[in-house]
Amino acid sequence: MSKILIKNIKGLVQYGENLPSVRKGKEMKELPILENAFLALEDGVIVAYGLMSDWGGIDDWRDLEVIDADGKYVLPAFCDSHTHTVFANSREEEFVDRINGLTYEEIAIKGGGILNSARRLAEMSEDELFDQALERVERLMSYGTGALEIKSGYGLSVEAEIKMLRVIKRLKAECSIEIKATFLGAHAFPPEYKENHRGYIDLIINQMLPIIKEEGLADYIDTFCERNYFSVQEMAEILEAGIAIGLKPKVHVNQFSAMGGVAKAVELNALSVDHLEEISDDDIEVLKGSNTMSTILPSCSHFLSIPFGDARRLMENDLPVALASDFNPGSTPSGNLSFVWSLACVKMKMTPEEALNALTINAAYAMELSDSHGTISLGKTTPIIITKQIPSLAYIPYSFGDQLIERLIS
Ligand code: NIG
Ligand code: FE
Repeated sequence: MSKILIKNIKGLVQYGENLPSVRKGKEMKELPILENAFLALEDGVIVAYGLMSDWGGIDDWRDLEVIDADGKYVLPAFCDSHTHTVFANSREEEFVDRINGLTYEEIAIKGGGILNSARRLAEMSEDELFDQALERVERLMSYGTGALEIKSGYGLSVEAEIKMLRVIKRLKAECSIEIKATFLGAHAFPPEYKENHRGYIDLIINQMLPIIKEEGLADYIDTFCERNYFSVQEMAEILEAGIAIGLKPKVHVNQFSAMGGVAKAVELNALSVDHLEEISDDDIEVLKGSNTMSTILPSCSHFLSIPFGDARRLMENDLPVALASDFNPGSTPSGNLSFVWSLACVKMKMTPEEALNALTINAAYAMELSDSHGTISLGKTTPIIITKQIPSLAYIPYSFGDQLIERLIS
């Protein structure tokens, strides 16, 4: 048995029993912190925590690793509920094009963007894709990510979408953190189907989904609902076909325009609606009373110079907010959630506590991991973050660009 005792913790963050699986509105300000604490893990399960002054000492030192966390904080690991971690190539040439004045949408219309990534991914072997993605997952873990959702969507053909999903399945088996797989065949129309949307949607529904079902390749289904991509109606048809084989929707909506995708996704009981750089009064109304998590991706706004999602407006309407990285080669080449935390504070005026709730409890909800992740509670198996020595928890989002996560225990 592997046993770990972390002692002299400056602050044990997001700890307690019977904590909610979602914090919304004003509740997002709540963040329990136990000062001068200890935490004990056995085979990755949280078995005890409390004040150092209540610590009973150690009876059995066999196989025990003792970590002195003097001056350091201990947190439940971040959950990243929206990423595109499997990809074949970086796209810094488009970054330079944007500096020179083109927009993300203009680059996409010229055949760049998602289609650029799809051309490169078609040529790469499954093994090479896997090796590259594994290295990325390890890097994300070093940044404190302790659960990861990964989407397909750079395949856009039966063969390449299935190749991506098989890579994600191998990552699930290989990595020590929870990974969830999302099928995003509806990420863009491939060039040969540009004028034949029906044909591509039929390919998704009649050819991709049956293999996904047969091989158990996905947990969720996603669609990029946006002008020049998939309409609300097209999204609905694809999501319904996914639901029919047991995949819950988790969707890209409102990145550039609010076209009614939120209402349709909520109607279809989506687990989360992601992006929300644009949001309408109608969207807010339908989100109220739903079980759908609003997930905002501030690194994407930062990198594409588009508006930041209005987290304050969602919280003022008593809604919950989750934060995720959107790690991908086009709109978000960083998967560092400490930076997301900082952007949420600086650009979206979330307090450090609100943003941390959005990265832990609410993000765990957005990937159906509330029972095991998101809080430091007895019996949970969440990976744990130990920070470097820092003066306060707010120092992490304050000190943007620094790597203050010392270790992830998973
Ligand atoms: O979430 N917007 C759609 N998909 C990704 C970007 C994909 C890409 O540019 O490669 C996103 O931002
Ligand atoms: Fe995305």
